[in-house]
Amino acid sequence: MASYAPDRIDPATIDWANLGFSYVKTNGCVKYVWKDGKWNEGELLKDFKVTLDVAATVLHYGQSCFEGLKAFRMKDGKVRVFRPELNARRMIKSCRSLCMAAPPEELFLSAVRRAIEANIDYVPPYGSNGAMYIRPFVFGSGAQVGLSPAKEYIFIVLVIPVGEYYVGGMGAPTKALIKHKLDRAATYGTGQVKMGGNYAPSLGPTLAAKEKGYTVLLFLDSKENKYVDEFATSNFAALTAPDANGKRIYVTPKSTSALASITNRSLCELAALRFGWGVERRRVPWEEVRSGGFEEVAACGTAVIITPVSEIHREVGKPKTSASAKTKTNSSSVWDDDDDEEEDVELDIAKVADQS
Ligand code: PLP
Ligand code: COI
Repeated sequence: MASYAPDRIDPATIDWANLGFSYVKTNGCVKYVWKDGKWNEGELLKDFKVTLDVAATVLHYGQSCFEGLKAFRMKDGKVRVFRPELNARRMIKSCRSLCMAAPPEELFLSAVRRAIEANIDYVPPYGSNGAMYIRPFVFGSGAQVGLSPAKEYIFIVLVIPVGEYYVGGMGAPTKALIKHKLDRAATYGTGQVKMGGNYAPSLGPTLAAKEKGYTVLLFLDSKENKYVDEFATSNFAALTAPDANGKRIYVTPKSTSALASITNRSLCELAALRFGWGVERRRVPWEEVRSGGFEEVAACGTAVIITPVSEIHREVGKPKTSASAKTKTNSSSVWDDDDDEEEDVELDIAKVADQS
């Protein structure tokens, strides 16, 4: 039997109250292979390594999707997973949209259980504010150079103990940035599924935004650039100020290009059933946010939990001078790269009320 990864973290050494959100090696992750039309029995992968053919479709055509969910240690000592069946169903949807073999719901649930049981000592203790983050993912491992789906897939469930995603603590003021000329997902594209390709394009702009003091990127709809879609990591949720009866409205965008967040769905349910608030899932114009239509705005998702957003800055392109906005007509100039030129931008700022 393979021994544990040499850099496996010993649970006895973990500072549970100060966990961030980083990859650490635990006892192992579980791995299943889909071949000849069926999933195998799976195994515990103690060295955290997979060997791939250089022509695996994940490396060329991006056949890859993932999920994110959490397990919590409760007061009674038991470990409970938050709504895993919803993640199982969303993963099936993601796999289908990428023409990949999908782990059936029962397999997904038993794989999650197996990964947690093998790593039970890594579930943060009750009261530490930590959780076990569960990252199931599927990718095309079959070799294929022509553009067609792989004939083999790998499904892995990785677990890590986590604390806060955004450093600074729950409630720390967070600034979001809407980049000029950067879309996340097309109106009828892949934004609603959790495929790796939706995330890679925001890596660079997120790093650049962080250097300027922003925590997260927010995207508007890609067709009209008018309505709020979602954050790079999470959904957008907002609350109106209480009315004379103390009643608020929980507002979240309805969009064909935003991920259907399980956290957001749960918050909608809580808002209505627990607090008796109104719930509106509708188009949310940027102008409504900018002009102070909401008392509170937050990013919500499994990793980011509910991160309050105190300011949103939108980059707006400065109009080009007529000299620079020429139409290209001759064949030597129509292919030049002027369209990629960086434009000067100015900021349109939405301040949300103090949420401390
Ligand atoms: N939107 C995006 C782009 C995400 O990556 C996530 C995280 O999974 C979410 C929203 C929130 O979804 P969930 O609440 O299911 O974690
Ligand atoms: C999650 O919240 O589970 C995600 O997958 C978001 C990711 C950006 C960490």
